[in-house]
Amino acid sequence: MTDTQLIQLAEQMLSRSYAPYSKFCVGAALLGKNGKVYTGCNIESAAFGATICAERCALSTAVADGCREFETIAVISSADDYCSPCGICRQLIFEFGQDTRVLCARNSEDYKEYKISELLPLGFGPSNL
Ligand code: THU
Repeated sequence: MTDTQLIQLAEQMLSRSYAPYSKFCVGAALLGKNGKVYTGCNIESAAFGATICAERCALSTAVADGCREFETIAVISSADDYCSPCGICRQLIFEFGQDTRVLCARNSEDYKEYKISELLPLGFGPSNL
């Protein structure tokens, strides 16, 4: 699974996004260390606070499948810009490993790569409890 393929899977999820309020569609694809890919999209709610981001949607599917170790998560939006995970998503990605790669994609050829620990410096994680 190449980075480009993972971003393409995230991009396919844009059509599944439920974003009637913001109209900002987000897709994510998460590569587990088990070799499986878990995808997600954002799911909005009329009660805005109940909205789920694409990244946490993908993480939920993965954890429910028994996968808790990840190589990479790719994130892309319907806007023509690099899509960066929100703070809550950074926290939940960090929960499952400080070294997870995060691909903030503009399209499948144009993306920026970070480690989650770069996006969440001094993050509070399982080792802090
Ligand atoms: N959104 C995500 O899905 N992931 C992020 O990391 C940033 C924000 C969604 C939530 C909401 O449905 C829309 O984008 C606008 O904030």
